[in-house]
Amino acid sequence: MSSQTAEPNPIQWGYSLENVAEIMQPCLEARGTTSLLEIGSFAGELTESLLEWGTPKGVDIATVEPLPPEDLRKVVSRHPELTLIEDTGVGALDSFDGLPDTVIIDGDHNYFTLTQELDKIAELAGENQLPLLMFHDVCWPHERRDTYYAPDRVPESERQPLAEKCTIEPGNPGVSDGGLPFDWAAAREGGPKNGVLTAIEDFMERRGGLRLAVVPVFFGFGVLWETAAPYSDAVAASIAPYDRNPVMQRAEANRVALLVRTHKDAKTIREQNQRIADYEELLGRMLQSSALGLAERISRARQRGNPIFTRQEIGDRLEGKPRQ
Ligand SMILES: C[S@@+](CC[C@H](N)C(=O)[O-])C[C@H]1O[C@@H](n2cnc3c(N)ncnc32)[C@H](O)[C@@H]1O
Repeated sequence: MSSQTAEPNPIQWGYSLENVAEIMQPCLEARGTTSLLEIGSFAGELTESLLEWGTPKGVDIATVEPLPPEDLRKVVSRHPELTLIEDTGVGALDSFDGLPDTVIIDGDHNYFTLTQELDKIAELAGENQLPLLMFHDVCWPHERRDTYYAPDRVPESERQPLAEKCTIEPGNPGVSDGGLPFDWAAAREGGPKNGVLTAIEDFMERRGGLRLAVVPVFFGFGVLWETAAPYSDAVAASIAPYDRNPVMQRAEANRVALLVRTHKDAKTIREQNQRIADYEELLGRMLQSSALGLAERISRARQRGNPIFTRQEIGDRLEGKPRQ
């Protein structure tokens, strides 16, 4: 934190699917969910809201997280009924004996990882219908652009050319000067095998008989189901008011624009604070110098007692006293 201005804490991203709980839960009820797997739990915000919703109904809930943070461990200790699998999504699915009837996928947001997860689910389903599938990040920034938590988990030949520690903004398919920050992202948006929505669409084409609803808020909530499933009409009716809802689309575009602006402003303020700290350090050193005292005396003599600066004035400014 700078000595001048508290560094702005860029507003919450709204990264958790918990933000769409009131839309998600009726959909789970329309499906008649009895067992649920969440892939990618992070701090367990969605996990905990799922537990609060599902445990009283007897829903069996498991969550997968390769790197469980402390907050997730606390959720586990508050909810002994929760199964935490410390693995990747594909690793966890491999260890499953039979599929849950609902899977929420919110792990590593790239084409390769999501395709592997979807193909593994299809393989495990065999001749049976797929579970109800839910996804996060089917809208900007991930819809047509990969990001990677751990690029080494994706073979280089299957990865997009990478940008490291980059920022991105809507309307710019490359990387931008300021915007939403990512450790690892595809250097360019678009094109084949790039992004979450692209992976879902390609899977739908391979498999057939599937329908996708896109709820365009909080980076996009996707619901995918078999149209031949007995619950298909109920899920469709539950999600229909939100599916590609234009008012939500406008609100999300506005939210994202403000989020990007906030991150850019935060970057500008960080840079300005650094410059102020540099000036202060320089002035502090000058104040220690006897040469500055001599300069002040010369200025006082030349300006008939009204020097251009005084050391007192510099000291006051460094202490934050206002200008007289
Ligand atoms: C966006 S967060 C999940 C947020 C959570 N679902 C929620 O809505 O509150 C994504 C998480 O996925 C985890 N993750 C990364 N790669 C993964 C993978 N291959 N399989 C499963 N989880 C992964 C990350 O460590 C991160 O904690």
